[in-house]
Amino acid sequence: LPQYLKPVLSVAQQGAKRLSTSARCNHKVAVLGASGGIGQPLSLLLKDSPLITELSLYDIVNTPGVAADISHINTAAKVKGYTGPDELKDSVKGAQLVIIPAGVPRKPGMTRDDLFDTNASIVRDLTKAIAEVAPKAIIAIISNPVNSTVPIASEVLKKAGVYDPKRVFGVTTLDVVRANTFIAEAKGLDPQKVNVPVIGGHSGVTIIPLISQSKPAVSFPEDKLKALTTRIQEAGTEVVKAKAGTGSATLSMAYAGARFGISVLRALNGEQGIIECTFVKSDVCETKYFATPCVLGKNGLEKNLGISKLSEYEKKLLDAAIPELKKNIQKGEDFANRK
Ligand code: NAD
Ligand code: LMR
Repeated sequence: LPQYLKPVLSVAQQGAKRLSTSARCNHKVAVLGASGGIGQPLSLLLKDSPLITELSLYDIVNTPGVAADISHINTAAKVKGYTGPDELKDSVKGAQLVIIPAGVPRKPGMTRDDLFDTNASIVRDLTKAIAEVAPKAIIAIISNPVNSTVPIASEVLKKAGVYDPKRVFGVTTLDVVRANTFIAEAKGLDPQKVNVPVIGGHSGVTIIPLISQSKPAVSFPEDKLKALTTRIQEAGTEVVKAKAGTGSATLSMAYAGARFGISVLRALNGEQGIIECTFVKSDVCETKYFATPCVLGKNGLEKNLGISKLSEYEKKLLDAAIPELKKNIQKGEDFANRK
């Protein structure tokens, strides 16, 4: 196997091996936005997971080609492509997990909030279909601005009378993946053995890396700590600039999305102790949604592990994040509830 695939694969395979013989391994997963920069490599990584028996690839374009291509990989998951709104409901029907990377990415100079006008209605419409035909599915939202798209999806599900806050997740795993990488680089550690929780939201100042809670424990002089924090907060922009107008993070996001999706499936299968940081409906602080480490279980979110003890510096980061988060959340709710 190529080296780059091993971490995700080993996570999936270890998860599968640890299952009891009676555990269910027959999960249908749908990827909405499957032909995109994230959707394609994400679907590739999911196709490799022994936890998935059916992989449903939906997009408004190009899904026949993507599905034909991925379906030739000799793993168990049956792949089917669905194209356009007429095929949307069939693509999600019966899915236990729906992952949504549909929508436009940033170009240099844009904020994630600048994507709202296009992506808000995409997420709203996809969620309407899920509410109708797969109301029990766990929904993992990658589409930006995550701080607003998660509230939008939640309001849509509420209106449809099928909202379960334990089943709607904003995918912030990439922030953790980046924090682990940058801290490991700075300390000469194996990045696979570093775990830095990242809380808050998924944009600029709302991204709050908790370097004080890194495992293994690490410490930095103040200037280095600030520089690392800013780099984690601005890592998406670093990629947007480097891609110079051709998009934002896709490959690292696919890796992070596959990690999150596989964690959800392992937990659905009854595996204990699966923890991911994710943006969820929350009462851990004064915003309605907030990302924290969460224990995943058979029904989605099993236990929110909360914020735990922050350093003085991290408390300031939290203070800076709250007003922006509140604004982003309100904007999403207002949009979804507009007549
Ligand atoms: P992309 O343009 O390469 O792909 C998006 C795909 O969505 C395209 O294939 C497009 O056809 C499809 N699409 C558009 N409207 C659709 C609809 N109504 N239904 C289904 N599919 C539809 O973009 P990308 O680089 O894959 O990024 C996708 C989204 O993910 C962007 O909003 C981006 O900002 C976001 N993103 C989030 C994170 C995160 O950490 N949460 C990280 C990276 C990117
Ligand atoms: C990221 O963090 O890479 C994504 O949210 C995409 C972006 O626009 O930065």
